[in-house]
Amino acid sequence: MGSEIPSVKEGGRTLIIGSTGFIGRFVAEASLASGRPTYLLVRGGRLSSCKAKANAAMSLQEKGAIILQGSSSDKATMEKLLKEHKIEIVISAVGGESILGQLVLVEAMKSVGTIKRFLPSEFGHDIDRAHPVEPGLAMYEKKRTVRRLIEGSGLPYTYVCCNSIAAWPYHDNTHPADVFPPLDRFQIYGDGTVKAYFMAGRDIGKFTIKCLDDDRTLNKTVHFRPSKNLLSINELASLWEEKIGFKLPRATVTEEDLLSAAQEMVIPRSVVAALTHDIFIKGCQVNYSLDKPTDVEVTSLYPDMPLKTVDECFSEFAKKIADVPKPVEDSGYRVSIVSPKSKPEALVLTA
Ligand SMILES: NC(=O)c1ccc[n+]([C@@H]2O[C@H](COP(=O)([O-])OP(=O)(O)OC[C@H]3O[C@@H](n4cnc5c(N)ncnc54)[C@H](OP(=O)(O)O)[C@@H]3O)[C@@H](O)[C@H]2O)c1
Repeated sequence: MGSEIPSVKEGGRTLIIGSTGFIGRFVAEASLASGRPTYLLVRGGRLSSCKAKANAAMSLQEKGAIILQGSSSDKATMEKLLKEHKIEIVISAVGGESILGQLVLVEAMKSVGTIKRFLPSEFGHDIDRAHPVEPGLAMYEKKRTVRRLIEGSGLPYTYVCCNSIAAWPYHDNTHPADVFPPLDRFQIYGDGTVKAYFMAGRDIGKFTIKCLDDDRTLNKTVHFRPSKNLLSINELASLWEEKIGFKLPRATVTEEDLLSAAQEMVIPRSVVAALTHDIFIKGCQVNYSLDKPTDVEVTSLYPDMPLKTVDECFSEFAKKIADVPKPVEDSGYRVSIVSPKSKPEALVLTA
């Protein structure tokens, strides 16, 4: 296919798989906001068994999305839907358990022959360069298998490596942006000095959609490396203290602690522990340069697009905490919490 691929028509029909999930929701919202025809693939049975997912799909539908029913790992259904709806762009944001199911999707897109861009479910690190411990590695190997099939198929593609979510990086929580940063104590990984790139979820969606109609991102890996959002966990902790107006104790989570959490092989928690180790101990987001001809960096591609800082994200978190507990003694460190409603881990965001 390679050279025969026509340029992507701006705002072409876009199918998003995984729009009821964490990353997919941001992508679907951004696609709708950009005004492009947005189709969402949903598994009907899953919607009827989960009210939150049904509500998410309904809210996207109200904003103009067209809902299609089916599983991306069903080749015949995918071929039919892609043809019937003249889909030009496919974005997959399926979760860890469905990564290999994308192999069938690639075959379906190849046989239809009209797809102008495919974004597989990546949305993390450059999985060809990072080498986390198990079970993170097993997930990366699945993503690598998908990459190799895409590259061999001639399908036009873009890999989105958006790095970390702008939120407190809990090592046992897959979706940290859904939970407030800590209010009792920080868990600092290693010496807390290794830096990582943090992106607001909405910006991940916005920049992903921006890449779709851009020939500069064709068959490229798009790295999200905003220099103003490059922070260590020590810096994140200080920033959060600034927002809540008091200091919290800092407990060290050692490399060994993270490795043992990974070795427990409780999925997906151990995958997150393995990736946390890779980010905050090994420095997997910052230990290489963008020196391959296939590397592009998102803030260099779109220098004028506004991007939310971690500072702004943390201000929003702080605003959402209606009753931030005040220190009992103003001694620099908090000794106890006044009327805690619940453990910070249970303080789930609703807005
Ligand atoms: N950078 C980061 O910090 C970060 C954080 C989280 C995730 N990620 C990455 O982002 C990607 C998405 O992960 P996620 O956590 O957002 O996933 P998620 O919340 O588990 O959502 C997965 C979505 O995919 C849908 N799905 C799964 N299999 C499907 C199939 N065969 N057909 C149609 N829909 C299917 C699910 O719908 P159902 O309701 O049908 O199950 C759901 O909407 C992954 O590659 C993950 O590694 C990155």
